[in-house]
Amino acid sequence: MTHTLPTEPTYEGLGEFHDLSMTAPWERLRPHVRTLFAGLPATSTVADLGAGSGMGTRVLAQESGVRIVALEPSLVMRSVLTARVGDSPDLSRRVTVLAGALPVDLDALPRPLDGCVCAHMLGHLDTSARRRLWRGLADRCTTGAVGLVTTEERHEDDLARTGRRAGEPLVETRVLGGLEYRAVYRDAGTLGSTDRFSTTYQVLADGELLREATFAGSWAPVSYEVLVDELGSSGLRARTLAPGVAAITR
Ligand SMILES: C[S@@+](CC[C@H](N)C(=O)[O-])C[C@H]1O[C@@H](n2cnc3c(N)ncnc32)[C@H](O)[C@@H]1O
Repeated sequence: MTHTLPTEPTYEGLGEFHDLSMTAPWERLRPHVRTLFAGLPATSTVADLGAGSGMGTRVLAQESGVRIVALEPSLVMRSVLTARVGDSPDLSRRVTVLAGALPVDLDALPRPLDGCVCAHMLGHLDTSARRRLWRGLADRCTTGAVGLVTTEERHEDDLARTGRRAGEPLVETRVLGGLEYRAVYRDAGTLGSTDRFSTTYQVLADGELLREATFAGSWAPVSYEVLVDELGSSGLRARTLAPGVAAITR
């Protein structure tokens, strides 16, 4: 993999902050990870596709005994991922980190695969890339392989879950030492286009803004219905586990 990775460039900037926002989403996904992967033997291999900073990689390792191949194109995100794996003796033994982007680097994934995780990343791929991904995964996966896929929540469900009104941004805060880190996600309904996301990250000390950066990038919402349609005749089937969470099987 010596080519330039076709990564979503915003992650090189927002990668510093991204990890702080992923604790709650992965705690919501944890029971589904357990349901799908806890029963797999330790000789199994599961691919974490677009693994980001490795929050999901770690949940997968905690909830199963499988070996994991974590593929991630962004240098900044992959740096956090590699540090997370390197800091843990258990993750170091079980997790292989690959620099790669999908679907172009499908061939870098091992064969056979016993499962995959595709969380919070499908929207970075267009329809034809996703169809290529599904065909490539079906080709690599053992019969009976399972996958966890996140899909776009309905806008109303997202508002209800986060207790917001339409148009209101979602604001999340974390405190690290003496600083507050704030992520302000613009409501998807206000963006005027369905293929963008826009998030502002702020760092504050005692309520005073020290620095701020806004990142906007491409994101095509992939609903469960779109997923089912795109899986088509790939050999993979989907079923709903919860709003925004689907299982795929080979
Ligand atoms: C919102 S983050 C989610 C990270 C991780 N899956 C998680 O749930 O914590 C999306 C990730 O997808 C990665 N990504 C973007 N385009 C990709 C591609 N073509 N192939 C693989 N990963 C990609 C980004 O670099 C980023 O790390």
